[in-house]
Amino acid sequence: MAFPDSFVEEVRRTADIVRYISEHVPLRKTGASWKGLCPFHHEKTPSFNVRQEPPLFHCFGCGEGGDVFKFVMLHERVGFPEAVETVARRFGVPVPERGFDAGPDRKHRDEMLALLEAAAAHFSRNFWSAPGARARDYLLGRGFKKETLERIRAGAAPDSWDDLLGALRKKFAPALMLSAGLVLERQDGKGHYDRFRGRAVFPILNEGGKVVAFGARSLDGSEPKYLNSPETPVYQKSRTLYGLSWAKDAVRREGRVVLMEGYLDVARAIESGVTEVAATCGTALTTSHARLLRRFADRVVMNFDQDEAGQKASRRSAEVLVEEALPVRVVELPAGEDPDTYLQKAGADAYRKRLAEAPVYMEWLIRRAAVEHDTGTPQGKAEYLNALLPAVVRIESAVERAAWLPLIVSSAGLDERAAEQELRRAVASRRSSVSLPAAASEAPAEARAGLLPAEKWLLALMLEGREGVGGALDALQDADLQGLRSEEVLRAAKGLAAAGRAVAPETLGDAVGEESRRMLREIAVDGPPTTGVTPADCARELKCRPLKARMAEIQRDLGRASGPDLEALLAEKLQLKRQMAALWA
Ligand code: UTP
Ligand code: MN
Repeated sequence: MAFPDSFVEEVRRTADIVRYISEHVPLRKTGASWKGLCPFHHEKTPSFNVRQEPPLFHCFGCGEGGDVFKFVMLHERVGFPEAVETVARRFGVPVPERGFDAGPDRKHRDEMLALLEAAAAHFSRNFWSAPGARARDYLLGRGFKKETLERIRAGAAPDSWDDLLGALRKKFAPALMLSAGLVLERQDGKGHYDRFRGRAVFPILNEGGKVVAFGARSLDGSEPKYLNSPETPVYQKSRTLYGLSWAKDAVRREGRVVLMEGYLDVARAIESGVTEVAATCGTALTTSHARLLRRFADRVVMNFDQDEAGQKASRRSAEVLVEEALPVRVVELPAGEDPDTYLQKAGADAYRKRLAEAPVYMEWLIRRAAVEHDTGTPQGKAEYLNALLPAVVRIESAVERAAWLPLIVSSAGLDERAAEQELRRAVASRRSSVSLPAAASEAPAEARAGLLPAEKWLLALMLEGREGVGGALDALQDADLQGLRSEEVLRAAKGLAAAGRAVAPETLGDAVGEESRRMLREIAVDGPPTTGVTPADCARELKCRPLKARMAEIQRDLGRASGPDLEALLAEKLQLKRQMAALWA
């Protein structure tokens, strides 16, 4: 799964975070840190900070931040291992084989990929010669151009039990062909036969462009219309999207992907010059699909078939995408059309116009619900609203939720006040069952707000690894930390020091929660105090704080006290003064 820790550490040491980030985000040096416009949220004044030491980035605007790996993960939308690898390659650290594709599994997968590539080449040879006449005539007859069919590597399996088997037997073992899903076992157990027969064959590529499976269309109306490879070690349906390897660059460029249902929808779109397309190919869209898409796209436009099944799939898929924070729009085509037929009839310009006009998911949902329910009756009105509530309630931002209300109300002629009440009730019941973060639309508060200067300085010195920090932590007792904004961090630091471990940004970051991590980053990018204050000064100040607070109380009470009370207060005041003096002794 992962690289060894020693390698990750080596990459971390070697990487220059300022150099890396400045190659992707324009930065200007200001004081000890570098500033620029945050690539992770929209802003006009720079609140994105990068620091050499400790090596980290932090945005005061959106709160994102972390080390160089975190930057790559966010920026390239990849996982941790990929991020480590990216940084390693940039700074010339040799990358070891990853545990997960090493060993016999890796070898088996490589052999299978070689076999599948050979099969694709064989099907393609068939397609453009005599055995492929039927498949070729069929696809050319549907108006596909030769270049398109070459581009998608269209192939043909003739009506034979052993066309592929015979062609590949010399180079690949039947057992491998069986586990790759290309052949099936004969019932008598003696030998194998081809899975795909008498069909047009479309290779399915993974996002890296390797053939991992096939989808094969019948040519004579026989069922099933499409016969697909089974899942294998190199093909997981829930993680594969047809056409993504061809679409990657266009998707990145356009920022969006158009998601379709079928092989030939994708083929037609490519032919029409709409290249930011991929297809689910009859399987339900999964969270893995959504994450795969998120690596390349910021937004998804869905264009499933207009029939009942397609609309249902649209809804389910949109929910999955929204859940993964991908904004979704849904294309509407005339009844009975799919992207393939529509593009062929109406052309690319008309199609692009449909894409541009596609309503956002929520709007589409409201319009559909208004059509699907008889909103002329009280019963229908209630059903209409109930159909929408789950999706509305899932919207995090109260502002955004409220903004949909007018359309919900007007699309079905609802009573505005009653609808608002229902919405509020639904939101409240969600709130009581699951706890959710604050609305995304609210600007994040600075995590270091409420820190005393002494806390802030001590943390800054600690992050710098200054001398005397250990002693200062030692001097601070639990009671001194109570109620401090940085209580969690200081306790964690004391814990690390007591265990003989380094109190460094990484160890500290691992030991505390996200809110505290954010606070640490904010302090780190601010840099250490320039006033010559020492860790011991800070510890004294913090220890003094409860004494000072008590002193203020005494001062207040002295004015009203008399007799023995006065005596007691004066005695305590003297005691406090001595304690404070002792701190500086
Ligand atoms: P459709 O039935 O909409 O077919 O299935 P299509 O893509 O429009 O194909 P043509 O234009 O009639 O040739 C959509 C997708 O669902 C999967 C295929 O991936 C298909 O492209 N599917 C469909 C299957 O896997 N098996 C089937 O039997 C039918
Ligand atoms: Mn079709």
